[in-house]
Amino acid sequence: MGTSMLRPSILISRSLPAEAVSRARSRVDVDFNDADAPLPRAEFIRRLKGRQGLVCLITESVDEELLAACPDLKVAANVAVGFNNIDVAAATRRGVVVTNTPDVLTETTADFAWTLLMATARRVVEADRYVRDGKFKLWEFMLLHGGDVHGKTLGIVGFGRIGRAMARRAQGFGMRVLYQDAVAADAATERELRVVRTDIATLLRESDFVTLHTPLLAETRHLINAQSLRTMKKTAYLINAARGPVVDEAALAQALKEGWIAGAGLDVFEEEPAVHPGLLGLPNVVLAPHIASASAHTRLEMANLAVDNCLAVLEGKTPPTPVNLDALARR
Ligand code: DGY
Repeated sequence: MGTSMLRPSILISRSLPAEAVSRARSRVDVDFNDADAPLPRAEFIRRLKGRQGLVCLITESVDEELLAACPDLKVAANVAVGFNNIDVAAATRRGVVVTNTPDVLTETTADFAWTLLMATARRVVEADRYVRDGKFKLWEFMLLHGGDVHGKTLGIVGFGRIGRAMARRAQGFGMRVLYQDAVAADAATERELRVVRTDIATLLRESDFVTLHTPLLAETRHLINAQSLRTMKKTAYLINAARGPVVDEAALAQALKEGWIAGAGLDVFEEEPAVHPGLLGLPNVVLAPHIASASAHTRLEMANLAVDNCLAVLEGKTPPTPVNLDALARR
């Protein structure tokens, strides 16, 4: 209708909670792909053309080609804290504001990374399979021995919000905590969380659990490779709920098979949704389909925050959680 012609218009590229979609619909015109699968690339670009806003998931690549084809775009609101699916430099050059969804998912993601850590150390998935397969005929003293968590050393790679949330959980387990990050935490934080900053080699050598919470950057791609896996203790576990390409999956499959380390818990993969075939048959790895932030409450919070980010830019306001505010200056 007449008024709706004047309203900004956005594309929501994939299925989101109805509440978040209604929130957007109350203020802008919405083209919503409610089929929970990514749009084919050509259709994605066609449907975005002429619109000012995009709310997208990590399965959508927002790159130079797409930005060039959609010159009316003002904001790309990612429903994720990680934004390696978006070429932020290209967006900034074109004055497109990029936003993400930090904070609302921190504790939920750390809960799940901790779940993976516990499940991997205590062999929960193997135990479940054992019972379902009808093998539990007799209590056995020697059955399914795992590794202890309490009192061990936790090495946190990437000491941002989620890394720190892991350190808080480790306190309850009486763990010694090391962290590695390009930027040191301030002394008060280190004291409060009882953590010590080390270089990556020391962290890998001394930790019983290595948990990854770094963004995917050129310098973190394959940070965990054959050499780093060889540096870890044979009794150690690797947990990845960050981004798949931080780990060289082929090297990890070899390390798990040949016993260079004891086990791994993975929520993310190098070529999602594909999983390295070498991992699939191994008992000492727990695999999850990228669900660390997937509590019903948190996923709704993420969707609402992304919508709010998108609407704020379209209404000329500063979005709550921008990635490249300098893009605004280029408009
Ligand atoms: C993120 O937020 O970056 C997750 O990987 C998706 O929830």
